[in-house]
Amino acid sequence: MKYIIIVVGLLYGFWIGVQNDMTKITGEETVQQVLDELGDTPSPNLPNRLLPGASVEIGESLVKFGKSQNLSGGNTMRQSRHFVCTSCHNVERESAYLNIEDPEERLAFTHEKGLPFVQGSPLFGIVNRIKFYNDDYEKKYGDLVDKARNNIREAIQLCAVECSQGRALKDWEIESVLMYLWTIGLTMNDLQWTEQELDLVDNALSDGKDRADAIAVIKSKYLDHAPATFGTPPSSYKEGMPDIKGDPANGKIIYEDGCLHCHAKNEYSHYRLDNESLTFKQLANRMKYYDERSMYHVSRYGTKPKFGKRAYMPQYTEEKMSDQQLEDLRAYVLEQADK
Ligand code: HEC
Ligand code: HEC
Repeated sequence: MKYIIIVVGLLYGFWIGVQNDMTKITGEETVQQVLDELGDTPSPNLPNRLLPGASVEIGESLVKFGKSQNLSGGNTMRQSRHFVCTSCHNVERESAYLNIEDPEERLAFTHEKGLPFVQGSPLFGIVNRIKFYNDDYEKKYGDLVDKARNNIREAIQLCAVECSQGRALKDWEIESVLMYLWTIGLTMNDLQWTEQELDLVDNALSDGKDRADAIAVIKSKYLDHAPATFGTPPSSYKEGMPDIKGDPANGKIIYEDGCLHCHAKNEYSHYRLDNESLTFKQLANRMKYYDERSMYHVSRYGTKPKFGKRAYMPQYTEEKMSDQQLEDLRAYVLEQADK
């Protein structure tokens, strides 16, 4: 009898322990774990970890260096001759809040962290998203978006071939990239909580009530897709945007963290930019042309890959660079050109 009581006691203690593990949010949990626990629909973005050859390491190496290894351990062909994924996407967080896209806040945040100011959305937290190439990207990629819109694998493949202008990824490489991307998925600590909201989630986990509310509150803390609006340059490239006064100090940050990321620090482009006054004079002088020579034109429309010279510049959507920021950049370029 004594033993039975001890065993029951131990089991009870164990049960409480398990319960506590699952019911008190520590913050270390991934957002997906908590959603799964609450009975939300499973994520469509889970990798197939059983595919021979797939690994987190290969995924990370593909994203950062464009290199991968085949089953016999040999290096495969570089994914792209022109770019790596991190030419255009940060793998770090870019904003204090993940439920808004605010280009001004993004610039301040990335600048403070020493991150480049690039056209692509961060890959941090991308596995927590369910829609890709949103809104206006349909205009750019047409039918290609259909497959990619609701499918992260197709979204990665589209970017490998179209954005990176490189080769298609093999099955094991796609699964590897996904496995790596899950290592930079959201954890509960990445989101901002009030005590009340955390209680709601804790309670839903422990008594199973109000699960739908708990799921909704979690999902209100991050965007499940990146909105994308294609902006237009001002009608007169020479005059600029009449209602906006540019701030050169902010423009300097955009120039250095954005433009120079590709045109100086990394050799992603043959077109070299630097801090010489001649360079600013040239940029200022070319601003007025209604084609790829103008910084207005390339910022809003990008450039097109040309045959035999496939590196191209992706455009900045309004969510990634606001009209105000574009005018800030112009103000800086003009100020420097004037020196
Ligand atoms: C030359 C720039 C460039 C390169 C290189 C590049 N991308 Fe992209 N990628 C973009 C842009 C621009 C978008 C447009 C949507 C966005 O990110 O907001 C995009 C979109 C995506 C999306 C969908 C994001 C969304 O929220 O719509 C994924 C996933 C993605 N890229 C993954 C990759 C991976 C993986 C690689 C490397 C194999 C890569 N990209 C290389 C520029 C690039
Ligand atoms: C993700 C990388 C990337 C970023 C960021 C970027 N560019 Fe580019 N840009 C390119 C590539 C690649 C080309 C294609 C030209 C080439 O390589 O020959 C290009 C082309 C251009 C051209 C046309 C050059 C010509 O004569 O054909 C201009 C002007 C330009 N960029 C200005 C800018 C400015 C201004 C910024 C900052 C707002 C910027 N770029 C940010 C990659 C980038």
